[in-house]
Amino acid sequence: MFMNFRRIRRCQCVQLVMTGFVLSVLMVCWVQLDHHVENRYLVNSYDFINKSFGISQQESESLSNFLYLINHHDKCNSNEVLLLLFVKSSPENLERRQAIRATWGNENYIQRELGANVRVLFALGVYSNPQQRGSVQRGLLREDQVYGDLVQQDFVDTFHNLTIKLLLQFRWRHTYCSKARFLMSADDDIFVHMPNLVHYLQGLIQQGARDLWVGHVHRGAPPIRQKDSKYHVPYEMYQWPSYPDYTAGAGYVVSRDVAAKIYQATLFLNASLYIDDVFMGICANAMGVSPQEHVYFSGEGKAPYHPCIYDKMITSHGHVADVRRLWKAAMDPQIHDISSGQGLQLVSSSK
Ligand SMILES: *[C@@H]1O[C@H](CO)[C@@H](O)[C@H](O)[C@H]1NC(C)=O
Ligand SMILES: *[C@@H]1O[C@H](CO)[C@@H](O)[C@H](O)[C@H]1NC(C)=O
Ligand SMILES: *[C@@H]1O[C@H](CO)[C@@H](O)[C@H](O)[C@H]1NC(C)=O
Repeated sequence: MFMNFRRIRRCQCVQLVMTGFVLSVLMVCWVQLDHHVENRYLVNSYDFINKSFGISQQESESLSNFLYLINHHDKCNSNEVLLLLFVKSSPENLERRQAIRATWGNENYIQRELGANVRVLFALGVYSNPQQRGSVQRGLLREDQVYGDLVQQDFVDTFHNLTIKLLLQFRWRHTYCSKARFLMSADDDIFVHMPNLVHYLQGLIQQGARDLWVGHVHRGAPPIRQKDSKYHVPYEMYQWPSYPDYTAGAGYVVSRDVAAKIYQATLFLNASLYIDDVFMGICANAMGVSPQEHVYFSGEGKAPYHPCIYDKMITSHGHVADVRRLWKAAMDPQIHDISSGQGLQLVSSSK
């Protein structure tokens, strides 16, 4: 009798624990699912964008038309530019620019080895600390005399001014390089496998290369409301539960027609939303352009070290000290042999 009772108790106990476990698993799943469902399905039309973000051309000029402090009007003068590549840099990031010039962003190398006409420019504002601004600016002018690849406007170069830097890129393309077949925007801490990118773009030209916006796509991403986050967006700035789809700002490519449409959108949309890739999504949405996912654009993710990577990878994020080593490895013909025919997984994480 006593034994039986204990056995029953133990049985019930196990049952209770199991039920609790199953319930908590369900709850965790539900919370995650809910998060997605809520954001994906509450906003199924972004028709409010034109109405809520529309401003007059005068107002938009005042948000975007900053004076050029360093410029190169004729950078794109030669005909048949395949790709205009803007690297979003900051005045103090000389080391990163040097690494890019010596590796994946080297125009001469690309011309010689890949036979492609690519123009690489660094987009900058002015140094954020006013005390050192003068000396940093003199350094930039010297740097530009040597390399001739900086484009700088007179706005303070900060994280919350990245949308101004986005406007700079599209405006510059419109004014000085509207014939380039593609525009790419990239962070200065990514690695670009230039041969793979060039082959990919040349392949696209065969298919017409229109209506194209590729990268790592964020779908139905909700605005971050935590005040301590770098990506915090207050309700007054964006009141809806999700953003239109957009590609991670770390690296994406648009075709010529899409670049022209985005520029048009920047002329009548309020650019005070300071997260640049989100604002890009807003512009694209207003013009009826949708982003396309490409698995070899890693977004914020870093591709793991593995020879196989070099076969297909296009961008990988989070590289500063190792850019030169990666480039050497990527250009090594032996590595190409090892890697052919093998699968690859990119590690990708969200912001
Ligand atoms: C952005 O740049 C403008 C123009 O230089 C400046 O007035 C403003 O303070 C900057 N904003 C931020 C958030 O840094
Ligand atoms: C642009 O949006 C901001 C809020 O994000 C608002 O404060 C500002 O008044 C708007 N500008 C115009 C011209 O409507
Ligand atoms: C928003 O306005 C622009 C310019 O007026 C127009 O070309 C575009 O089609 C509009 N987009 C939507 C979704 O209504």
